Amino acid sequence: MKDREFILVAHTSLPPKERLLHYIDQIYQNSIVTNNGPLVKDFEQKLKEVLGVRFALFVNSGHTALMMAIHGLKSKGKILTTPFSFISTLQSILWNDCQPIFADIETLTLSIDPNRVEDVLMKGDRYEAIVATHLLGNICDVEALEYLSTKYSVPIIYDAAHSFGIQYKEASIFNYGDVSALSFQAYKVLNTVEGGALLTHHSQLYEDLFNMRYFGLDVQMTPYNVGLNGKNSEIHAAFGLCNLESWERDRSRRKEIYYQYVDFFTKYNWCFPKYREGIESNYSYFPLICKDEQERNQLEVFLLKNQIQSKRYFEPSLNTVFELGFDYQPMPISESISGRVLCIPLHANLSHEDIQYILSVFDSFQNR
Ligand SMILES: Cc1ncc(COP(=O)(O)O)c(C=O)c1O
Repeated sequence: MKDREFILVAHTSLPPKERLLHYIDQIYQNSIVTNNGPLVKDFEQKLKEVLGVRFALFVNSGHTALMMAIHGLKSKGKILTTPFSFISTLQSILWNDCQPIFADIETLTLSIDPNRVEDVLMKGDRYEAIVATHLLGNICDVEALEYLSTKYSVPIIYDAAHSFGIQYKEASIFNYGDVSALSFQAYKVLNTVEGGALLTHHSQLYEDLFNMRYFGLDVQMTPYNVGLNGKNSEIHAAFGLCNLESWERDRSRRKEIYYQYVDFFTKYNWCFPKYREGIESNYSYFPLICKDEQERNQLEVFLLKNQIQSKRYFEPSLNTVFELGFDYQPMPISESISGRVLCIPLHANLSHEDIQYILSVFDSFQNR
């Protein structure tokens, strides 16, 4: 029997070569490869239309977008954040010399719990911002967080690295928050190989971020604010423009797989996070929450032996990354979930046979 190919947890959507060449031809005609060129502008315009936002700024990574968002709100001091996210969320806070204060997560959605956010805010300390993550194709309780943002005058930054294309109550999820930071890294729903974007409805914030992206210089090349080199290239924009043509088709395929998984794992009483009511997800991840850490580790090894990749999104719980030099704040839910979570393959390249095979491996795991 032919060896089965290794099944990856995620997959990079490469655009059809002829579509990419169409844009590469334009680059050669324009002789412009970077510095806010025509394809970057075109990509930003399309992002605004597709995502229903006033301002979009294409940058060179999701992490850069987060660092810029925090800096753009002139944050210096305490930032309230989630312990359950990728380390980029925490690093972007520390990079800005801010102090992370954590609020634990909801068990059902794994996103920051607004009740715990309010417990912290009520104590009266000043907070510069809330940095919350829309995680693994799900979303935060945006209405509750909006209410708290107004009540306590704290801006909200969404780490939206996983959230391209998500709708809530039939409108863009990016209607919520002061600024959202997206990632277009190779395995994301929309990829530009590497890249990210900042989305906002505030014109002053957009102008500040626009200048910050280009060494802090304004359009007259006069120093305007503290900046970095956050720009991205015409080649990366070309990938984005091509992939914008196919992301919805990929989402439909992922949605089919997602619901096959839901049927199977519900039938066999596996635990997995539930989508918040009113969301149309991008179906980008399928996290399972095992009984305990031992079961998670056994499952991971069992899948690997059967040629299936899985990923611990996310471990460790960020409040336990002591190497980065802050005091321990216990977050029992996040710490427990981090030790038990495992994401299984979910992408548009999975065939019907792949899914049948993955589910058969789960059958064997249960009957081992
Ligand atoms: C939740 C989260 N935030 C931020 C990032 C950083 O994005 P990038 O890899 O584009 O810098 C990632 C990357 O995977 C992520 O998962």
